[in-house]
Amino acid sequence: MEGKKMKRIGVLTSGGDAPGMNAAVRAVVRTASSNGVKCVGIRRGWNGLINSDFVLLDSSGVSHIINKGGTILYTARSLEFMEEAGRNKALNTCKLLGLDGIVAIGGDGTFRGALAISRQAEEKGMSLRVVGVPATIDNDIGCSHYTIGFDTACNTAIECIDKLRDTMQSHERCSVVEVMGRHAGYLALYVGIAIGATAVLIPEREVDFERDIVEKIRRARLAGTTHYMVVVAEGAGSAMEIGDRIQKEIGIDPRVTVLGHIQRGGSPSARDRETASRMGYEAVMTLIEGAEHSIIGVQNGCLVRMVMEEALQMKKNFQMERYQILESLTNRQEGDY
Ligand code: F6P
Repeated sequence: MEGKKMKRIGVLTSGGDAPGMNAAVRAVVRTASSNGVKCVGIRRGWNGLINSDFVLLDSSGVSHIINKGGTILYTARSLEFMEEAGRNKALNTCKLLGLDGIVAIGGDGTFRGALAISRQAEEKGMSLRVVGVPATIDNDIGCSHYTIGFDTACNTAIECIDKLRDTMQSHERCSVVEVMGRHAGYLALYVGIAIGATAVLIPEREVDFERDIVEKIRRARLAGTTHYMVVVAEGAGSAMEIGDRIQKEIGIDPRVTVLGHIQRGGSPSARDRETASRMGYEAVMTLIEGAEHSIIGVQNGCLVRMVMEEALQMKKNFQMERYQILESLTNRQEGDY
């Protein structure tokens, strides 16, 4: 595709919010501004394009947001944008605003939307180049080893679970904690390792209650532990149900906590601010340099530009080696205290 000179670009956040989205928006606006490109903030995800809901952003308009959770642009999951008619309305807004490109910050659904509108634009003879920046606390995007927000969400969950542990330890109880992650177990796995969980359930591994819960608690008990911390990825089952089974089958009375949306909030960690800043910069440079529709990802610790169509086909191997580590750390031996 012939790269058209970028004069004005749009930036939006879509899907579930993630700490660090604001840092990415800031980097997009500042990079555009320092390269003579105007920037429009599209509000409420793709709905903003459908409804002409936007805000002009300049360099000072994104001051003091790098440390803020949430997204100043608001976010939404747009059903209307999934239909051709909705995308036609969105294209009209693009025309009115004179947008040459869009940086879409979000997850897989956000990127599929970006690709769909860019294709529809091409069919109409318009040029609208799109770049995706992966941001979701789930870390479940196939083409990127890391997504903005994951580190902060892990830290938030860890902080909460550490507090739960204090009271579980005093009362010699079992805590069953459900963490987010949608269909993926990354959050649960990292958090489970980091809090020294007794047992962790993830969707990538079929749950065997006897092996994964009963045996782990039994071993921990024989090793001298009198409180137990069980982490359940929401995609692996419901913490309430696991708690009920623990009560019925082991005879201990657990306390169940669903961490929920607290994991999506809070000031982004250093890793999320820094990664988001670099990704936002790279996204704008990708547009300016006239590359294909792209996704900016992290591969083996380095930032990479990937062609969007190919990136959306990529699958990420679940980190089973991390799971093995977790397994060996939770396999307590009798009398090893
Ligand atoms: O994708 C991010 C995420 O927080 C998932 O972990 C969770 O399953 C989902 O979004 C919750 O979505 P909602 O914002 O609709 O409650």
